[in-house]
Parts: sequence; C-alpha cells; structure tokens
Amino acid sequence: MSPVRRGVKSDATAIAQRVADQLSRDASVEPLVSKHFSRHDFEQALAHSASPVWVEDSSGLLRGHLYGATFDDPLNGRQTWTGPDGYSYEFENVLDNLCDWAYREWRESGSAAHLVWALAGNGTQDWIERGYHVVSVRGSLALGETFDFTWPAGHHVRRGDGADLDIALAFDALIDLAQGIQLDSLTDDQRESNEADLVDLLGDPDCHYHLVEVDGVAAAQCVTFPLPPLRGSHDDTVYLGSLAVEPRWRRRGLATVLVHAVLNHAIEDGFRFAEVRWHIDNEEATSLWSSLGFRPTYVQLRRSLRT
Ligand SMILES: CC(C)(COP(=O)(O)OP(=O)(O)OC[C@H]1O[C@@H](n2cnc3c(N)ncnc32)[C@H](O)[C@@H]1OP(=O)(O)O)[C@@H](O)C(=O)NCCC(=O)NCCS
Repeated sequence: MSPVRRGVKSDATAIAQRVADQLSRDASVEPLVSKHFSRHDFEQALAHSASPVWVEDSSGLLRGHLYGATFDDPLNGRQTWTGPDGYSYEFENVLDNLCDWAYREWRESGSAAHLVWALAGNGTQDWIERGYHVVSVRGSLALGETFDFTWPAGHHVRRGDGADLDIALAFDALIDLAQGIQLDSLTDDQRESNEADLVDLLGDPDCHYHLVEVDGVAAAQCVTFPLPPLRGSHDDTVYLGSLAVEPRWRRRGLATVLVHAVLNHAIEDGFRFAEVRWHIDNEEATSLWSSLGFRPTYVQLRRSLRT
C-alpha cells in the first residue's frame, strides 16, 4: 500500500519542522534567502487551509509533504501553486509518490498546471527531471552604501499617481510584450483585470510610482512597495516591479540610473534588501538585473497537468 495519505492536524508540527529545516538548508546555500520562519503561524495557516496537504508516512515517520493551492489566474486559467514551504523530501521516490497523489486531486479540481518555487540552482534539477521548466526568477540584492549617479540633462523623476493611468497602461503593454504576451490575445476580462490592478496600485499609499520624464515626456517607470512577508525573503525588503523604458530611450543607461535612484530612496527609508522578479525568457531583464547585482534566490517551475 502506498505510504502517501492526506495530512491531518496532528501532522502540522512535524511538517513545520521539515519546512524549518529546509529553509535553513536553503539559507546556508544562499544567504539572500531568509530562514526566518514562524512555526506557530505556519501551523495555523495549515490548519485553516482549504487545500489538502499530502504526506508520506513511513510507519509514523513523515518522510515528505506536498501542498498546492489551486485557484483561477485571469491570464492562465486554473492552476496550482506551491511555495518554497509547500514541499519537502529527502528521496526522489518520496517526491514521485507525493506528486502521483497530488496530481490526481489537482486534475480533478480542474487545475491545468502545477507551479512550484525551488531554490535557484541546486533545487531545480529534480523538478526538471519530472517535466517542469523554469518560467520566472526571484532575485535579491543586499543594500548597503548608496549609489553614485547623475541624472542626464533634461531628465526628471516624479511620483506618479492615478492621473498617470494612461502612461502606466502604455508601459504595462511594453512589459507584456517583453514577457511574450501577445496583446491581441488578451480577452476584455483580462484587460479589465489588468487595468483594475493598475488603478489599485496607483492609489495604494504604500506603493511608490516613479516616473521619469525627459523634457516633460514619459521615458521610464518603476514601481516600489515594501514586500509583504514572503517565505524565504528577509524583512525590510523593498520590491521593485514594472520597470520599463520607452524603446527610443533604451540602452543608454536609463534603467540603471532609475534603479539606482529608487534603491537610494529605499536605503534612506531603512530597507536592507531589494527583490525583483523576471520572466526567464526576458533576456534584457535577465541581463539587466544581473548587471545591477541581483542574484536569483528561487525560481518558479511549471508543469502541465494535462499529460
Ligand atoms: C529591460 C529594460 C528596462 C532595460 O532598460 P535600459 O534603459 O535599456 O537598460 P540600461 O541601458 O540601463 O542597460 C543596463 C544593462 O542591462 C542589460 N540590457 C539592457 N537591455 C538589453 C538588451 N536588449 N539585451 C541584452 N542586455 C540588455 C545590459 O547588461 C545593459 O548593460 P550594457 O548596456 O552596458 O550592456 C528595457 O529594455 C525595457 O523596458 N524592456 C521592456 C520591459 C521589461 O522587460 N521590463 C523588465 C521587467 S522585469
């Protein structure tokens, strides 16, 4: 009989211990990963989760766990997400057993794909051997001294707001294109959902919309906000998103200057780390974030559940 079963409340302590151990291992490989972990909060979240956790139980000894949250994504439909704390195993056959059980349930709940966060480098191989491919990267940078830079003549950065929605939408379209999203493939619902997200972002007092103008015309943007608690990320992390430069201003160092300006702001505000995310196929983003010193911490891998 397979040793895999659904996890129950009394498994929470053992699962939390496994997650704490795994995060410690990740942090010892990559110091940009935080091993901070509240067992209490994790156990509470597990106890109240609507999605099942699968465990491999070898005569009372837990040898692994797998958890995935299934929900609808406006762009990709119904998918299942697993964070860095959503699985543990020491042996590959344990992972195989857990996946067999979980896939069956996820498929039954209409999920078309499984996405999992794994430690960049060391953590990806087992998933790749199981048909997963890397889709995006989480990168971090430890902040220290402020950066020296000068804005070129005519460049001016200001804080944008809701009145800049059309500009933000135009930059958003540039980012979609760079991520391989064909704009004419978006449905009206997807467009409306994107626009609603942007309206929320521009109206959020915790969110800072940095807009660069050259001689009064929008040339680049970047959005920052304090990263909410996220497994594997340090406290006091600023998140940088939606970085984009108008095509005619590219390859002149504008993104570099803007990111340095934004990071200086963050350092003055007491942030100790910065985090970004980019799509693996976005070559300019991959090259840009590396050139700015960001290092991959976790990568997200995806596997279709249709096969
Ligand atoms: C990525 C982007 C913001 C870069 O802006 P930029 O002002 O041209 O960047 P910079 O001039 O500061 O370039 C800094 C470094 O990034 C890398 N880079 C930038 N564009 C690149 C490209 N097209 N191909 C390869 N590397 C690139 C290079 O390492 C470059 O240094 P170098 O010019 O000395 O070789 C811009 O291309 C863009 O808006 N792309 C579309 C939106 C997007 O992908 N945003 C990122 C989302 S995560």
